[in-house]
Amino acid sequence: MSLRIGDTAPNFSVATTAGEINFHEWIGGSWVFFFSHPADFTPVCTTEMGRTAQLAEEFEKRNTKPLGLSTDGLKEHFVWIKDVDDTQNTTLKFPIIADPKTEIAQLYDMIHPNESSTEAVRSVFIIDPNKKIRLTMTYPMNVGRNFDEILRVIDALQLADEKGIATPADWTPGAKVIIPPSVSNEDAKIKFPQGFDEIRSYLRFVEVS
Ligand code: BEZ
Repeated sequence: MSLRIGDTAPNFSVATTAGEINFHEWIGGSWVFFFSHPADFTPVCTTEMGRTAQLAEEFEKRNTKPLGLSTDGLKEHFVWIKDVDDTQNTTLKFPIIADPKTEIAQLYDMIHPNESSTEAVRSVFIIDPNKKIRLTMTYPMNVGRNFDEILRVIDALQLADEKGIATPADWTPGAKVIIPPSVSNEDAKIKFPQGFDEIRSYLRFVEVS
């Protein structure tokens, strides 16, 4: 069965380019950007790995650890990382899981047989420090992910947790956010003393800092 938002991310122990990890222990108090890709030494994957490495500081600012996975082995990963560094002008430091038996890929439903029976599609799991899955995205093999969007959803999730708000379509940090319908106007006045715009009783925007 596929994993859903709110599920506890299944735990596993596995070999990675940063050594053996127990996933839940490795998560510690961080958020996680867990993502799969089809194979080492392929062009789209090379750009995605490079982009993740280039964004190391951005992930760190968000207390978020990237964790990659492909169904290749450790030996291939280590050689390929040198290529990623060379071609993408970066230094890849985050761990990549070696999953040649597809055990973790199966556990996380990353193998979509109509794409490939041996390689993972481009799955994304954003996992919070309580080990809960907070967001999933699945891209086909031939479409690289948008990393601005990945950072944006982490920002949105973290702001939603901190302020008890929701974010509108195309929200970016700094833009107005939404007061959820579960918050009455009476409570909203206490929670948001800065005031809010009531467009409809169910559509209220507020600025938060
Ligand atoms: C790629 O990373 O370039 C790729 C991998 C598998 C299928 C298509 C593209």
